[in-house]
Amino acid sequence: MCGIVGYVGNKPAIDILLDGLEQLEYRGYDSSGVALKCSESIKVYKAEGKLINLREELAPHAYELAKSTTGIGHIRWATHGAPTVVNAHPHTCNCGNLVVVHNGIIENYKELRAELEAKGCKFKSQTDTETVAHLVASVYAEVKDLKKAVQLAAKKLQGAYALCIMHNSEPNKIVATKRNAPLIVGVGENEFYVASDVPAFIKHTKRAIYLSDNQVVTLTSNSIELEDESGNILTPKIELLPWEPVALSKMGYKHFMLKEIHEQPDVIRNILVGKLHTSDSDIVLDEVKLTKETLKKLNRIQIIACGTSLHAAMIGKYIIENFCEIPVDVEASSEYIYRKTVTDEHTLVIGVSQSGETADTLTAIKQSKARGSHILIITNRPDSAMAREADSLVPVNAGIEVSVAATKSYIAQLTSFYLLALYMAEVKETMAKSDLTSLKSEILQLPQKIEQILAHKENIQACARKYANTRDFIYIARGINYPTALEGALKLKEISYINATGYPAGELKHGPIAMLDETMPVLSILMNGTVYEKLLSNSEEAKARNARMIALTNSDDAKLDDLFDYIIKVPDVTELLSPIIAMIPLQLIAYYIAEFLGKDVDQPRNLAKSVTVE
Ligand code: AGP
Repeated sequence: MCGIVGYVGNKPAIDILLDGLEQLEYRGYDSSGVALKCSESIKVYKAEGKLINLREELAPHAYELAKSTTGIGHIRWATHGAPTVVNAHPHTCNCGNLVVVHNGIIENYKELRAELEAKGCKFKSQTDTETVAHLVASVYAEVKDLKKAVQLAAKKLQGAYALCIMHNSEPNKIVATKRNAPLIVGVGENEFYVASDVPAFIKHTKRAIYLSDNQVVTLTSNSIELEDESGNILTPKIELLPWEPVALSKMGYKHFMLKEIHEQPDVIRNILVGKLHTSDSDIVLDEVKLTKETLKKLNRIQIIACGTSLHAAMIGKYIIENFCEIPVDVEASSEYIYRKTVTDEHTLVIGVSQSGETADTLTAIKQSKARGSHILIITNRPDSAMAREADSLVPVNAGIEVSVAATKSYIAQLTSFYLLALYMAEVKETMAKSDLTSLKSEILQLPQKIEQILAHKENIQACARKYANTRDFIYIARGINYPTALEGALKLKEISYINATGYPAGELKHGPIAMLDETMPVLSILMNGTVYEKLLSNSEEAKARNARMIALTNSDDAKLDDLFDYIIKVPDVTELLSPIIAMIPLQLIAYYIAEFLGKDVDQPRNLAKSVTVE
């Protein structure tokens, strides 16, 4: 939900911190702040709103601040307390000697705050984070050692936290620790970075140390000390990051979202490399540890996810049940974790998550793992907390996705579900060889079909312009594209703020049809296949209520010209693969409407790329 970054080394910290926070803006952007070790003490600067406001706040102090080579910074997505300067991080203790930045939620902060206030601590903000500042400071007053104070104070914290802390009495030093929230150290030459995610420092170094829960790291410009929660010294494991900094530039596109939509053909090609060579070759999923025996004993699959990943999970259900004949349940993680669920060693639990850090899904996965289920994670971040819980891993390898609205990661998740389902079908021998070959052949053609859509997007852009000024928008579909309708609606909703809703078309007449009139756009995802005729008649029902009808279709049916006000034609594709083809125009419609309305496409209000709090 928030982004934290720290630097200690021999360069001006301020430039590194601000650039790092800019790279983390996708994690939250309602306020920000930095703390810098200056000549006589640590100075704190904070601002409401976007990062540009903090830059303006800092500008008058640029000369002095340029001398500082140690600092921490924070960009916020408010959880406790409004996005004001008072609530912005960094937070300090009463004397101002200790400063802290935090990502996560301290669940027992109210009890701790009451104890600290009873000891005379004076709180300025409504945040849980300020409690950490006072708590560590009160322990520091006894032990006079920042690392030890952090270790002892952390034992009192409940919930999720990634913390970076500095103290005036131990200059040019950062102490950091984490639990249930990501924190990574970047290793430079006589300098160290520490951040919530690698984009904050990848342009400076690709050498990284992923901290584990409850570890405490102490950084100075020429030393690193890593300890576990008991104070045992650990040897840091330095990994080489697999990404290139270029992923963090728009490469000439107006927004990251448009760039990432256009990356999708190559994303699919990259996924297929090494997994699906030709239409006659078996699927190769090296990190899936599902033996024939395990698969034969499986009596159920449970898929859990949130948001866009939940829509991918819903399509995964159709695919797996169709290919593998195993019953599949799909549920929002936030619902799953709060009910009595019946999973056991014969249940395969699949977690789907772009970030691999979504708190609800991570909690659900841990609960299922404790009940003995085999955990398979489909994620874009094989370096994430969820990936570390996995018995089997399917990295979707879509590359870093910066735009808050998920696009390429969704298409990558769907592609991965097709490969996983085909892999299981081959192991369980539930599909005829001819069907396997035919589907694999069509999967190999998907990239160029997407490129055809992207090459003729003017029609989609014109459609977006025509329907942009609407308060509501309805998407309807049937069968495997019902989740496509939900995802198309979410894309439009989350970046244009239009009240878009997806419905199973058969449900229209059970209530939603009451909303239809000449002001309501209804987009029908009318793909050739088993439910085409049914959906056509649902579309006619909507037309009879004077709705503004749009068809997204691969059909050449002449009847459509009379029924629909606007038709978006896509390349033909077999029904089972149509969710991938149908999604591309829906992503573009959402993008062009939001862009036309002048919305903040890559950083929509109230949202964050990775929801690391429940
Ligand atoms: C996607 O457009 C949304 N930003 C959001 O719904 C997202 O899919 C959801 O928060 C789940 O994130 P995850 O895939 O990283 O778990």
